Amino acid sequence: MLKLQKISTKIAGITVLRQIETEFKAGSLVAVVGHNGAGKTTLLRAIMGLIRLEEGRIEFNGRDLATVPDHRRASMGIGYAPEERVMFPTFTVEENLRLPCEVQRMPKQETDRRLEMTLQVVPQLKDMLARSGAALSGGQGKMAALGRALMAGRNLVLLDEPFQGLAPVLANQYAESLRRLRDLNPELCVIVTESNGSLLRDLPDTTLTLERGELAAAPHGASHHLY
Ligand SMILES: Nc1ncnc2c1ncn2[C@@H]1O[C@H](COP(=O)(O)OP(=O)(O)O)[C@@H](O)[C@H]1O
Ligand SMILES: [Mg+2]
Repeated sequence: MLKLQKISTKIAGITVLRQIETEFKAGSLVAVVGHNGAGKTTLLRAIMGLIRLEEGRIEFNGRDLATVPDHRRASMGIGYAPEERVMFPTFTVEENLRLPCEVQRMPKQETDRRLEMTLQVVPQLKDMLARSGAALSGGQGKMAALGRALMAGRNLVLLDEPFQGLAPVLANQYAESLRRLRDLNPELCVIVTESNGSLLRDLPDTTLTLERGELAAAPHGASHHLY
């Protein structure tokens, strides 16, 4: 569904992603693991169209994403939870969740349906709906950011280091949510980055390793986790 064809990017003249070539399949949960500064966030931003490609091409369901402006990617069913979760503080959590659907003029009925699915996947959000986006703790904000990514992400969901800094109880809940998400949407592709791959436990089907902007060949047997 998502093909990266030798993509390279530069930031301030320095190559940050080098000839990344890989394919993400529908129905898979793929981990992208790499040290801080490896280029994980840049990779997700490139998929979202938030950074210009120096070379290469990103194809989504057969379509060259370069022809799709970044603000239209949500309407292609791509949801994104950035590392720095950004809830609009003057909106309630529910308004924050609905926003990506409203921006793409999704019919209200469908938005309602997606909200229902999202609350099924992340039930902790139910009690937060009426609260202000500014009133969430760090962990709650991460749950809300997941929810918001799910509202838009019918086909593809990108999660940038969601487990980083989550207290163990919340990390368990987050992992449970990802399992429910996959049960409910077996065709969904989920890409999760993490600097510490063990935080992802047995969730990923595949683990890609990013090192200084390059995809390293997965060590033999990497998908059979030893931890
Ligand atoms: N806005 C920026 N200005 C300058 N350098 C940046 C910027 N964003 C990222 N970089 C550099 O790009 C590289 C990859 O960063 P990033 O994608 O954020 O890595 P990761 O998410 O894996 O920690 C790092 O070396 C970082 O210093
Ligand atoms: Mg990052």
